[in-house]
Amino acid sequence: MMDVGSKPAVGVIDFHSHMIPGIDDGSSSPEESIGMLRSSAEQGVTAVVFTPHFYATHNTYEHFIDKRKRCLNLLAEAGGGKILPVRVGAEVAYFEGITAMEELPGLRIAGSRCLLLEMPFQPWTRRVIDEVISLNRDKNFQIVIAHIERHLRFFSEDMLYTLLNQGVMIQSNADFFGTRSTRRKALKMLREGQIHLLGTDCHNLTTRPPNMQEALRVISDKLGEEMLREIYHRSVMVLRKDGM
Ligand SMILES: [Fe+2]
Repeated sequence: MMDVGSKPAVGVIDFHSHMIPGIDDGSSSPEESIGMLRSSAEQGVTAVVFTPHFYATHNTYEHFIDKRKRCLNLLAEAGGGKILPVRVGAEVAYFEGITAMEELPGLRIAGSRCLLLEMPFQPWTRRVIDEVISLNRDKNFQIVIAHIERHLRFFSEDMLYTLLNQGVMIQSNADFFGTRSTRRKALKMLREGQIHLLGTDCHNLTTRPPNMQEALRVISDKLGEEMLREIYHRSVMVLRKDGM
């Protein structure tokens, strides 16, 4: 059992965050990003994946990559590069025809095959599922569906198992575990292999701050530290170049 406020004994990778200053609706300044990174470290997070929003309807690939580089430089100049190990990727919003986007590999999490995919906020169709599966079959991609708990009313159990059986991975936000009303469902999904990776999806230091600690406490208390170790191991494996 882990005491409230204590750090977990194992590493934790925040797989979903908006800590790059000025690129999206996340952190608004290098100072805020540094605050978010420090808060993450205090909560036991040992590495962070930066996943700024990419919307094909609003961004061109070139513009996004260029802006991401400039915003990362601002953070580095302010000293934000020394707080925690980070990996840079994107949270890519699904769009019909995504499989045909030539530059898509450039939106994966650096050094890995992982593409964090934000699914539609409306009922998922067979066509959407088929396109996600086809992308995941491509050896260059490991699809990770972002914040599954925000889409629960948009898919059937059948659809979820179709995706899982094809090796698609699932990320959930820490507050799914941290919130009393959703905790039971979150733990059930984790236990049943329907959640593989954790993220905070933090956007700032006020309304959507880094909040990994409570999720870690709940998981550790209810399912044991072994479960946290499993999540960590999986996170490390999937971030390797040819991982999973
Ligand atoms: Fe996000």
